[in-house]
Amino acid sequence: MKLHGTQSVTKQGHLEIGGCDTVELAKQFGTPLYIMDEAHIRNICRQYHSSFVKGQENTEVIYASKAFSTLAMCRIIDEEGLGLDVVSGGELYTALQANFSAARIYFHGNNKSAQELEMAIKAGVGRIVVDNFYEMGILNDLAKELNQIVAVLLRVTPGIEAHTHEYIQTGQIDSKFGFTLPNGTADQAIDLALSYSNLTVKGIHAHIGSQIFELDSFRHEVEIMIHYMGDILRRTGCLLQELNLGGGFGIYYAAGDVPAQISEYAKTVQDALADACQTQNFPRPKIIIEPGRSIVGTAGTTLYTVGSIKEISGVRKYVAVDGGMTDNPRPALYQARYEAVLANRANEETVEVVSVTGKCCESGDMLIWDIDLPKAQSGDLLAVSCTGAYNYSMSSNYNRLIRPAVVLVEDGQVDVIVKRETYADLLRNDVLPARLKYLRMASR
Ligand code: LLP
Repeated sequence: MKLHGTQSVTKQGHLEIGGCDTVELAKQFGTPLYIMDEAHIRNICRQYHSSFVKGQENTEVIYASKAFSTLAMCRIIDEEGLGLDVVSGGELYTALQANFSAARIYFHGNNKSAQELEMAIKAGVGRIVVDNFYEMGILNDLAKELNQIVAVLLRVTPGIEAHTHEYIQTGQIDSKFGFTLPNGTADQAIDLALSYSNLTVKGIHAHIGSQIFELDSFRHEVEIMIHYMGDILRRTGCLLQELNLGGGFGIYYAAGDVPAQISEYAKTVQDALADACQTQNFPRPKIIIEPGRSIVGTAGTTLYTVGSIKEISGVRKYVAVDGGMTDNPRPALYQARYEAVLANRANEETVEVVSVTGKCCESGDMLIWDIDLPKAQSGDLLAVSCTGAYNYSMSSNYNRLIRPAVVLVEDGQVDVIVKRETYADLLRNDVLPARLKYLRMASR
């Protein structure tokens, strides 16, 4: 397993993260356990800041909180000076409860409800990214009622097919998101938005997909969007001043993944921007990017305990852990690959190929197919790396499994930032109607 951030292996062969021995963490907090490496998260935020923002005029990096949204995470992002992308009332609520300044929040989503929009307006969210005509109408009406002028970006679907898993491609024409550019829908949206009394159109937004390695996709996106901003200026006389390019920068999960450096990503965007603005004779707009996965992905590790082991001679050896698709649905959803190590014997040679499975009642509940490990035994600890993004945030209670705790480690210090769920939590919202409380004979 490739080591990330502050991960290291102690002399005893224990995986250590943020100066904390994972064997001790397992004892103290139990497993499964999400471990987040604070120094690593901050380091990546700083890389984004130094390559995108520093020395550039008018650039903003906002963290896409869908990747991992908790109070502590919002505080870290705030302290690092980044903005925040939220995509639901729940993510907005989390940010506001964390005292995140509403003015630095962008509100996305393809089906925001009137309640969510009202909540955002009342909170003073910096930008609402309007996705469709239905939303635009509701938003204008609400803004009128509340006597406000709401600053918006319009989400445009540029017609780019980024090279990534089809479920996480979003820029192509056949997408549920945004106003389609190539067929003229985006033009209609701009015209309508400009005509609405209580909306002020600040710019446009696009997001072409996620886990993208090819920087060319981003270059292409910049070209299309600046070209389009030039078109809008020529057609309507309206000079839009903000361009939000979305997120999508890919990260390392397993051998074979070769992401570029954040600085190369920044250079690609900045060079493409300079070229496109010159070609279009268009003044450089404010640039916003919204990385999620690349800020937290490699900073998270999930620690499990090995339970049952089943060997089918000549076929496969299954090593089962105490979590699975409930805490990490990505392998089942996107055929995502992960690396792992035995956290209590991290310095031992690998001697066999096994497949790591979860404890859900589903054959598809696999975490890793065919991984080299030392001979795993029940009771060993298994650490799966790069689980910081879209793991906790996509976790479920399937099979009534309880969600793991999340701990934040830094420099030998450990803090619980999300408590482990309890069985009582599972029943918190269950309601038993009075007529079902006592055993009655079924009348047949
Ligand atoms: N901005 C918008 C409008 C987005 O829709 C997304 C991700 C991002 C930014 C952040 O993208 P990132 O930098 O994290 O790639 N659950 C999937 C990923 C879904 C991404 C959804 N949108 C996964 O686990 O791979």
